[in-house]
Amino acid sequence: MSWWRDAAIYQVYLRSFTDGDGDGLGDLRGLESRLPYLRDLGVDALWLSPWYRSPMADGGYDVTDYRAIDPAFGTLQDAERLIGAAHQHGLKVIVDIVPNHTSDQHVWFQEALRAGPGSPERERYHFRDEPNNWLSRFGGPAWSQVADGQWYLHLFDASQPDLNWEHPEVRAEFVSILRFWLDRGVDGFRIDVAARLVKEAGLPDKPGQVGPVTSFEDTGPGPDKDRPEVHDIYRDWRRMLDGYGGDRVFIGEIWLDDPERFARYLRPDELHTAFNFAFLKCPWEAGELRAVIDRTLATHARVGAPPSWVLSNHDVTRHVTRYGREDTRFVKRIRDVEAPTDLDLGRRRARAAVLLDMALPGGVYVYQGEELGLPEVFDLPDEARQDPVFARTGGADPGRDGCRVPLPWSGDAPPFGFGANGSWLPQPPEWHELTADRQAVDPASMLSLYRMALRIRREEPALGDGGMRWLESEAGVLAFEREPGFACVVNLSDHPVALPAGAPMLASAALVETAAGEGKLPPDAAVWLRTSG
Ligand code: NOJ
Repeated sequence: MSWWRDAAIYQVYLRSFTDGDGDGLGDLRGLESRLPYLRDLGVDALWLSPWYRSPMADGGYDVTDYRAIDPAFGTLQDAERLIGAAHQHGLKVIVDIVPNHTSDQHVWFQEALRAGPGSPERERYHFRDEPNNWLSRFGGPAWSQVADGQWYLHLFDASQPDLNWEHPEVRAEFVSILRFWLDRGVDGFRIDVAARLVKEAGLPDKPGQVGPVTSFEDTGPGPDKDRPEVHDIYRDWRRMLDGYGGDRVFIGEIWLDDPERFARYLRPDELHTAFNFAFLKCPWEAGELRAVIDRTLATHARVGAPPSWVLSNHDVTRHVTRYGREDTRFVKRIRDVEAPTDLDLGRRRARAAVLLDMALPGGVYVYQGEELGLPEVFDLPDEARQDPVFARTGGADPGRDGCRVPLPWSGDAPPFGFGANGSWLPQPPEWHELTADRQAVDPASMLSLYRMALRIRREEPALGDGGMRWLESEAGVLAFEREPGFACVVNLSDHPVALPAGAPMLASAALVETAAGEGKLPPDAAVWLRTSG
């Protein structure tokens, strides 16, 4: 069976992982030094956020050279060494590819600026004499004007001009870039903004466009997403990848709520898997979770692709914080900032949630720091914030820096072993309680729970790829079994619940002893059971 069908993939947001050279920014040497930690955690693969040469206007999702490593992260040799070292630790390496847009500092865009209106150089992007009414995903208009009066399209920051995917040179260039990294041994690609590469011909206005659009709500089909032609790109890429040998993978970043349209990207000749954002966005509520799980399984079964389960990433409010609120959905941060939060409750639920997602059929993602139970950081000083969303919304949306704060590894004071000389975003002093070193020796810590869960998940034949069956349960409880001999129960009700027959293997919280001596599962907790089978 292919490894990616049920892999546990750890997302490394490189800038915030570990600083190996003391400049306050995470880098490849820092990551290499932590490979034993990742091996011991028990994940199968690493997905690295973009490591390419970049002015870092959007944390590296603004690339100037797709074949070079940004000097702040290291060198191409460091990258090659990292891939080799990860493989020696039994870890696959997935890199992020950013095909929707380049940096405005990319040589193509600079040539386009110099060559002027009507030039072939401008054809690689979307230049127009008049903008349409589209808005940037980061706030404000999706068009900026250049000195000669023309406008260019950028679905994200003004420093991220959208490429024209109708252009044969654009298509050829990305196949060549993919090959460049495949030749260096990467095991796959996470495709940024995968559903938006192709725009509707003529770039028509969007009917009923309302702004701002910094939310992750999917408003349905539009001229700037999910165009049918985008599938041809992935069919081309898949043909190339399949010719490569090895068992390599394409993972789509696809924010489409319509399961039917989402599944089209996962047809056998396109991408292998995609992030399950429906699960990430789902509130902590039994009925809604069950519905999302059922829909996910049905959607993926139709195309034979493995489902994936995601709780957090570098774009969304950390789930310990989301789950500590009355409204546990992730919609957008503007609202998130104001909501009162009970972090103890959030952590209890996060512990239960990870036992749920690691027990479901398919693959799982772990976003760096979630294994430490890190919360979102809201009180970053404005001058420290780097996410362009903050500036583009005039500060109305604080942006995503709060889920990107550098990790606390050890010690009692910042930078908590992140590096020798501070960190690019300040860490909360109270994170001394959450360092990896401290949690590693505490069997009750979030880190210990992740380690145990990942170990069991790897060893249990019932877990990973395969099927599941719901067990009868009372309202507010999710219970399912998997063959052979495994059951998972999650209690989202407000009272302790009795468990089906079986021996507890791992629980997110201590079971409550009843007078009759049997264990009940407390609210906001989950348990894995060995059943007879
Ligand atoms: C999605 C990435 O996850 C996000 O961080 C980035 O800002 C946008 N794509 C634009 O590349």
